[in-house]
Amino acid sequence: MAVPFAKSHFLWSFLSIFLHILAVFLLLLTTYVSAHTFSDIGSEDVDSSRRNDLYSEILRDEALARLNELGKVSDADGYLERTFMSAASLRAGNLIRCWMEDAGLTTWFDHMGNLHGRFEGMNRSAETLLIGSHLDTVVDAGIFDGSLGIISALSALKVLKSNGMLAKLKRPVEVIAFSDEEGVRFQSTFLGSAAIAGILPVSALQISDKSGVTVQDSLKENSLGITEESLLQLKYDSKSVWGYVEVHIEQGPLLEWVGFPLGVVKGIAGQTRLKVVVKGSQGHAGTVPMSLRQDPMAAAAELIVLLERLCKNPKDFLSYDDQCNDSTIESLSSSLVCTVGEISTWPSASNVIPGQVTFTVDIRAMDDMGREAVLYELSNQMYQICDRRSVSCIVESKHDAKAVVCDSELSSQLKFAANVALKRMTGEIQDEVPILMSGAGHDAMAMSHLSKVGMLFVRCRGGISHSPAEHVLDDDVWAAGLAIVAFLETHL
Ligand SMILES: *[C@@H]1O[C@H](CO)[C@@H](O)[C@H](O)[C@H]1NC(C)=O
Ligand SMILES: *[C@@H]1O[C@H](CO)[C@@H](O)[C@H](O)[C@H]1NC(C)=O
Ligand SMILES: [Zn+2]
Repeated sequence: MAVPFAKSHFLWSFLSIFLHILAVFLLLLTTYVSAHTFSDIGSEDVDSSRRNDLYSEILRDEALARLNELGKVSDADGYLERTFMSAASLRAGNLIRCWMEDAGLTTWFDHMGNLHGRFEGMNRSAETLLIGSHLDTVVDAGIFDGSLGIISALSALKVLKSNGMLAKLKRPVEVIAFSDEEGVRFQSTFLGSAAIAGILPVSALQISDKSGVTVQDSLKENSLGITEESLLQLKYDSKSVWGYVEVHIEQGPLLEWVGFPLGVVKGIAGQTRLKVVVKGSQGHAGTVPMSLRQDPMAAAAELIVLLERLCKNPKDFLSYDDQCNDSTIESLSSSLVCTVGEISTWPSASNVIPGQVTFTVDIRAMDDMGREAVLYELSNQMYQICDRRSVSCIVESKHDAKAVVCDSELSSQLKFAANVALKRMTGEIQDEVPILMSGAGHDAMAMSHLSKVGMLFVRCRGGISHSPAEHVLDDDVWAAGLAIVAFLETHL
């Protein structure tokens, strides 16, 4: 038995030496091949191909330059103001139109002053992906509110154009810069997006601004003749729309607080806007005794304080109502916000008891039933105060929007895209992108009447908006654009 063993041992040794030589040969060959291959690419090129993948020149540097440029297009000297159909709004629209064309889109203005940029993709009869935000601003605005959503979408499409992917989009993509979201000029929000969603009543054309110019006139002045018929034609066919996506600054402090550049929005608070007109008896400040006055200014003051009290303590009146359970009260208490932001008096002179005082009311909450309960309680107590003071109070509803729940599938696609973007930027897998509610209204609210909607929020400094102090970090602008690129890639 020993001999065959020795023989086989010898054979094994021989085989083993042969295999070692082969292994060394293969190793040398591999080293040669890999050295040869990498000398063609070079380590610098590897870095730059990674950088190219991030498109910082387009998504960050150029996007920021555009935000700053657009932020200078204003109707006012020294601060930013662009209202519906103003001269600056038109200049802004024309500027954005150039950027749309730069991204390879076909552009047009519609009868409501919305600017559209569309790319048909591989199948022009497939459902369209709409991406948008608004080009109007508040008075003394920041440069990111609205503009960021438009510009990040255009930058993302420009990236796809530059890497040859644009033509491979499997559905049409349309970017819309809405003409009115803030509602500053006509005190009625969403003129632009509501027209496209088909929820703008034809009566809206006759709303007038402070100088008596109607919506219809303001469009006509800019050669956008709109009739009731052409307004109805603006409505998109919901069957032709795949979904609506909007990127917007958070306008709140949460993302900054958790240290995350992007967040996915799960819903938008419902809101009610009222105009309250209090009419009293106009008179001489020196001659009408206090006991004989019907002073609408003092009444308005009491009404405003009433509103604040109700909204600070909704539990006080909701708890008496059997319809509201604990979770409704909790969600209302944590989200209910009420504001009087504008007040005007007539004749507004220091030595005259006013004849009339008009003020606005803005009420928002995540819970629609709770918001209605506040409105009910407010009008009840309001009329009691007006009766007691012998003034007449008229409450006019200017805007009413139900809370909107974002589409869960679309939201998870946006969440995936945001995660991909942050991973590409940092090279690391991040924590889960946070999910937030939106207390501010957005065009997505109107668009939710047309199709499913999804929103991405971008961190802004201190949660500050509607102010020139509004600020978004350069890299967060980049992250927003990259997230849209990643989202569009799922439509290739
Ligand atoms: C284009 O989209 C339509 C509508 O969704 C669909 O019926 C059709 O099959 C698509 N065509 C191609 C070539 O994918
Ligand atoms: C509370 O009421 C809301 C709305 O009526 C309902 O959706 C919810 O399930 C209720 N919650 C509980 C704990 O009963
Ligand atoms: Zn906005």
